[in-house]
Amino acid sequence: MIYLQKATIRDISKYDGEEVEIRGWVYNKRSSGKIHFLLIRDGTGIIQGVAGKNDVSPEVFESFNPLTQESSIIVTGKVRADKRAPGGYELTLTGLKVIQIVKDYPISPKEHGVEFLMEHRHLWLRSKKQHATMLIRHEIIKSIRNFLDNNGFILMDTPILTPSACEGTTTLFETPYFDTKAYLTQSGQLYNEANCIALGKVYCFGPTFRAEKSKTRRHLMEFWMVEPEMAYVELEENMDIQEQFVSYIVKKVLENRSEELKTLERDTAPLEKIKAPFPRITYDEAVNILKEKGLPFEWGGDFGAPDETAISENFDKPVFITHYPTQCKAFYMKPEEDRPEVCLGADLIAPEGYGEIIGGGERISDPELLIKRIEEHKLPKEDYQWYIDLRLYGTVPHSGFGLGIERTIAWICGLKHIRETIPYPRMLERIYP
Ligand code: 4AD
Ligand code: MG
Repeated sequence: MIYLQKATIRDISKYDGEEVEIRGWVYNKRSSGKIHFLLIRDGTGIIQGVAGKNDVSPEVFESFNPLTQESSIIVTGKVRADKRAPGGYELTLTGLKVIQIVKDYPISPKEHGVEFLMEHRHLWLRSKKQHATMLIRHEIIKSIRNFLDNNGFILMDTPILTPSACEGTTTLFETPYFDTKAYLTQSGQLYNEANCIALGKVYCFGPTFRAEKSKTRRHLMEFWMVEPEMAYVELEENMDIQEQFVSYIVKKVLENRSEELKTLERDTAPLEKIKAPFPRITYDEAVNILKEKGLPFEWGGDFGAPDETAISENFDKPVFITHYPTQCKAFYMKPEEDRPEVCLGADLIAPEGYGEIIGGGERISDPELLIKRIEEHKLPKEDYQWYIDLRLYGTVPHSGFGLGIERTIAWICGLKHIRETIPYPRMLERIYP
C-alpha cells in the first residue's frame, strides 16, 4: 500500500507527480458522461480535479455523480503540473470518500444581492473573493505586528470595558456594570499614554466600538484599530513613523498576496507607488483645495467623505492633513503654541477616495491645559484623574496614532464597501449572523 500524503492545496507544488489526499469541499462540478471536472477547495485554495471514465473503476466514476456544491469530500489524486490550470496544478482523481452530500446550498455561482449575501455571511466567507479578502486581512495584521515588534514597540492590551470616553461622548456604547455603568472602548489611546511613560514605545491592537448612527460605506460599529503611542515623540516624527509603517504594510501585501489581489481584480499600479515620504498639507491648504474645486466648505468643521475624496484626488500617495481646528478634534489634542485655534493633530487620508485611515497627533502634556480642556468638553473630571496624573508625574511630549484595520483593508483590496473587510461586520441595521 502506498502512503498518501495529506496535502493542502496551497502547498500542492511540493507534491508534483505524487499521489495525495485532499480533505475539503466541492466548489463546483461539471460532468459529461465521460469525465467529471471538480473544483475542490480545502480552505487554503482551490484546485481542479479530473476523473475520466477510462482512468478509474466504474464504481469510483459513479461515486462522483451525486456530488453537489459544498458537499464535504476527501479525494485522492495524482498531482500534475499544468500551465493552463489556475494555480499551475491539477489533480488526476483516483478516489473519493463522501462525508456529506449537501442539499440546496443557498449561495449558487449566480449573482446574489448584497443583503442576501450578508444574511448568509457565515457561508459567503467560503467564496473566492471573500476568501482572498480574509487572507489579505491576515497579511495586513501580520505585517502590522511585525513592523511594530521589529521596531521596539511593546504590545500592551488596553481594556474593552471602560469608565469614560476617549473620542467624544456621543458615540458610546453603554453597558451595565454591576451597580454602575461602563462603556465599550472607543480607543485604547488614553491607557497607552500611561503605558508609553512606563515602557517607552507601545501599541494596543483590538476591537473598538462606536455607536455611530451613520450608514456610510466607511463606518462599522465594531472595528479593529492598532494604536501606537510614543514618549518623547512630537508631531513630525509621529508622521515619519506612520509613513514608514503604511509603506511597509502595502509592500508586504504586494509581496505575499499578489494572487489574492488578482482574485479581487485590484489594479496594483497605484499600490506600487505607496512609498515614504508622503505629502503633508495643513488643514488650511486642504480647505483651499476644496474651494478651488468649487466644493462648499466652511473653516472649522471636520472633513466629510466627499471632501476627503476630493482632497485625495490631488495626490497619488496617502496625504497627511495637519493643524485641524482645535474645535473639531478631541479634548486631548495639543494646540499649536502661537495659534491655539489649531491643534497638532494629523490624519492620514488614503488615495483613490478611500478616506481617512489614520487619526493621530501630539497630546497635551501640560496639566493645567488638560484640566481646562476636560472642563470645556464637560467631561467628568473625577473619571480622568488618573489621566491627569500622567501630566503631574513625569510629563513629556508624546504622540501616537490609530490605524483603522478595516479602512486599510478596503483601500488595499480596492473594496468600495467596508462590510466585506471583516468576517462578521456590525452595522447600523445588522448584527446577524
Ligand atoms: O480618528 P479616530 O477616531 O482616532 C482615534 O480613535 C484616536 N484615539 C487614535 C489614536 O490617536 N490612538 O480613529 C482612528 C481610525 C480612523 O482613522 C479610521 O481609520 C478608523 O479608526 N475608524 C473607523 N473604522 C471603521 N468604522 C468606524 N466607525 C471608524 N471610526 C474610526
Ligand atoms: Mg478621525
